[in-house]
Amino acid sequence: MELISVLHMKGGIGDSSYASNSLVGNKVISMTRPIIEEAVSNLCRNATIPEKLCIADLGCASGPNAFLAVLGIMKAVDKIRKQGGFQSPEFQVYLNDLPGNDFNTLFRDLPQFQESMKEQLGLDFGPCFFTGVPGSFYCRLFLSKTLHFVHSSYCLQWLSQVPQLEEVNKGNIYIATTSPPSVISAYHQQFQKDFTAFLQCRSEEMVKGGRMVLTILGRKSDDPTSKECCHIWELLSMALTDMVSQGLIEEKRLDEFNIPHYNPSPGEVKQVVENEGSFSIDRLDASQVNWDVYENDGAYNITKCIRSVAESLLANQFGHAVMDKLFQRYLEIIADTISKETTQFFSVIVTVTKSALRLQEVAHFGILNHQQSANVESSSSGVKNLLSEFNDADEDLNEKDHIDDYILDPDNQVYENVLSDGEGDEEAAHRGEYLSDDEADKEPQLPGTTNINFSI
Ligand SMILES: C[S@@+](CC[C@H](N)C(=O)[O-])C[C@H]1O[C@@H](n2cnc3c(N)ncnc32)[C@H](O)[C@@H]1O
Repeated sequence: MELISVLHMKGGIGDSSYASNSLVGNKVISMTRPIIEEAVSNLCRNATIPEKLCIADLGCASGPNAFLAVLGIMKAVDKIRKQGGFQSPEFQVYLNDLPGNDFNTLFRDLPQFQESMKEQLGLDFGPCFFTGVPGSFYCRLFLSKTLHFVHSSYCLQWLSQVPQLEEVNKGNIYIATTSPPSVISAYHQQFQKDFTAFLQCRSEEMVKGGRMVLTILGRKSDDPTSKECCHIWELLSMALTDMVSQGLIEEKRLDEFNIPHYNPSPGEVKQVVENEGSFSIDRLDASQVNWDVYENDGAYNITKCIRSVAESLLANQFGHAVMDKLFQRYLEIIADTISKETTQFFSVIVTVTKSALRLQEVAHFGILNHQQSANVESSSSGVKNLLSEFNDADEDLNEKDHIDDYILDPDNQVYENVLSDGEGDEEAAHRGEYLSDDEADKEPQLPGTTNINFSI
């Protein structure tokens, strides 16, 4: 099944809409705000705020969350430019989602958002231009080298399609402890393929030094069958199985159905970013939020939330007629579960910077230029050091936009010099792919968040 033609959050602003049932997403974006602010301040380091700043929110849906992250980004830029006494940049804001998204509701809310932006940021802010971009973020969506900042929250766990399964995932609609290993591996491979495609496309579209903050509904555990990520779908498959026993759904239809969704661990996210090679990781965090973010009627509200997200897929497979009964049963199961245990959603939050060159290109260049004099390590850590040093050097070159020219000119010594300058440079380690422990201690710690620092 091609997700692009089926998946959409429930539109409008009614009681069952995503707009009215997206408090979990709202809380997650609010929790991530310090990370977004940090990434913006790194983008605008040394007061190099671009005159025309292009921001994209990918998988914006509709409703209040669609503008929340954008507002956070704009406020952070505005703070920096006011501190430096600069004029506001012009903003181009792209709001992307699949073509079935309710863009009408989204843009109906825009004037109200613009009003509150004026109130909060003043009349000397902007101007800001908003554009809707329908399409899958697993494809190219924007002109090359135009985006400065990309944000996406709770979207990249959606795969481009249900993975091709060699065996039936009997009794399940997602990865579960009873899933055959081939099913688990097919899901993981689909995630790797899709996330790689996502990074490749953004790599084309982003300017060198551009930042991305991606929050993915994931897991903390290394085990992809862990309850912390599979439970919500396991409970839905229980409700669907009950419907089969009551003769309301055909067993065959259930056997054929799997959710095009994958909850990665921080390690899996890190692995894909590194293998793709266009971005360096600035920070990687995990956080959790309770299913029950509501003060009252937790089970009722979480059921409505999942219905507003997944009904388009379920109705496509099982028909609209059974949806009320299905979600009534789901509500009972959820109520029973949350009365007995604490249930949480886990987020993996990764902040990355667009590198001047891809990891593989750095390796190639390094090997070409050092074949006589240096022992360029061909190991992955050697290559990563080259990339890190190159990117640091790139900054030292006073933001030269033509750095590619230096690289491509075999007679130019800049890269060689940079490599030797970078050797043993402690400061460079701080500015590299990962923060040192000391630096990380100074990082903002989010409520309910674990900061994961990896060393290379
Ligand atoms: C759970 S909603 C999150 C919406 C919003 N970002 C938030 O935090 O509340 C996931 C959104 O991702 C969108 N989405 C899923 N796959 C996508 C794709 N391949 N390209 C663009 N949008 C996608 C869905 O249509 C949906 O609107």
